[in-house]
Amino acid sequence: MKSNPGKTTPEDVLLEGNRFVRACLRKPVDRTPVWFLRQAGRYMQEYRDVRKHHTLVEICKQPELAAEVTITAAEKLGVDAAIIFADLLLPLEPMGLPFEFQAGEGPVVHQPVRTSHDVAVLHTDRTDQLEYVARAIQKVAAHFGDRLGIIGFCGAPYTLASYMIEGGGSRNYIHTKQLMYGESASWRTLLDKLVVVLTEYCKQQVDAGADVIQIFDSWAGSLSVTDYRDYALEASTRLVRAVQAMGVPVIYFGVETTGLLSAMASTGADVIGLDWRQPLDEGWHAVGHTRAVQGNLDPITLFAPLEILEVRVKEILRAAAGRPGHIFNLGHGIVPGTPVEHVQEVVKMVHKYRE
Ligand code: CP3
Repeated sequence: MKSNPGKTTPEDVLLEGNRFVRACLRKPVDRTPVWFLRQAGRYMQEYRDVRKHHTLVEICKQPELAAEVTITAAEKLGVDAAIIFADLLLPLEPMGLPFEFQAGEGPVVHQPVRTSHDVAVLHTDRTDQLEYVARAIQKVAAHFGDRLGIIGFCGAPYTLASYMIEGGGSRNYIHTKQLMYGESASWRTLLDKLVVVLTEYCKQQVDAGADVIQIFDSWAGSLSVTDYRDYALEASTRLVRAVQAMGVPVIYFGVETTGLLSAMASTGADVIGLDWRQPLDEGWHAVGHTRAVQGNLDPITLFAPLEILEVRVKEILRAAAGRPGHIFNLGHGIVPGTPVEHVQEVVKMVHKYRE
């Protein structure tokens, strides 16, 4: 609330709301907002210390711990947004698909979905079991107030379906595509069920204080443009629209999506996350300048000497050309072993940058 609305200066207008949410809505900002995909993770000593005593899923399920990990990372880096510490796969459990993280192998779903019967028995009415994520968001929101943007997230229907069907990560997505092409009625039912669960899950997060929802379609790049349009786009669009109807902007992100960007933008998402394979201006052109974009430094550039890192960071900022609606980020998640000081330096470089 402004104490003296008659004396609002242009600077005040630039600071109303936080700069991350403003950029999502393509409003002018005082400086480019920045945060990092996987900003809380194993590259950070504080996270490794918590992980010595708890599994990944334990951290996610204990709101106190999830909030602590989220807050510590955002404060240590000095970023403009905090993404809630959780994992993409958490909604699988209340749908009836238990999974675990196996050291060095990533997630493993014990009984992957392969048949129409497997799809038919998936639950959609147990999403209240995910309330622990909303409780963690409440704690983060109480801590930061309006200072930072708070990001809730979920997987996109296609990406979560592919995890459910493959049972883990995949190289060629053969089982996923077999079901998609061969059992298209079951495929549609699976995506419909996911949209129901994910909409409810996002609603819990928004009600708890998430300012923005990011939808990760991490494996969308495994689809041709035609298959993306025929088999994934409609369900993503429904989810994007349902979340926007809750009153928050949506960031929609995928990897290896160079050919998919205009189709992804047609979901209506407010912000499209760009991976690092394409110059930011080309990606933004494909998305269209009526949308904001987020990205897109190659996360491995964080291992480069600072002089080179700075050249790359400035290249991205220059490509954004001062247009409203750029959120600086990586083109994919921070990897273990990344020097934390380099991540902190990038924040300073972005905040210092002037046209
Ligand atoms: O700081 C943050 O970004 C928030 C936390 C977050 C995690 N997972 C915690 C996590 C987020 C946003 C995710 C999303 C997620 N999870 C995605 C989408 C993002 C992307 O990379 O495209 C995906 C595909 C997953 C599934 C997943 N979780 C995999 C494949 C793995 C194993 C890979 C690895 O790095 O080991 C995870 C594990 C995971 N989720 C870790 C973290 C911090 C690292 C493992 C650990 O702490 O044991």
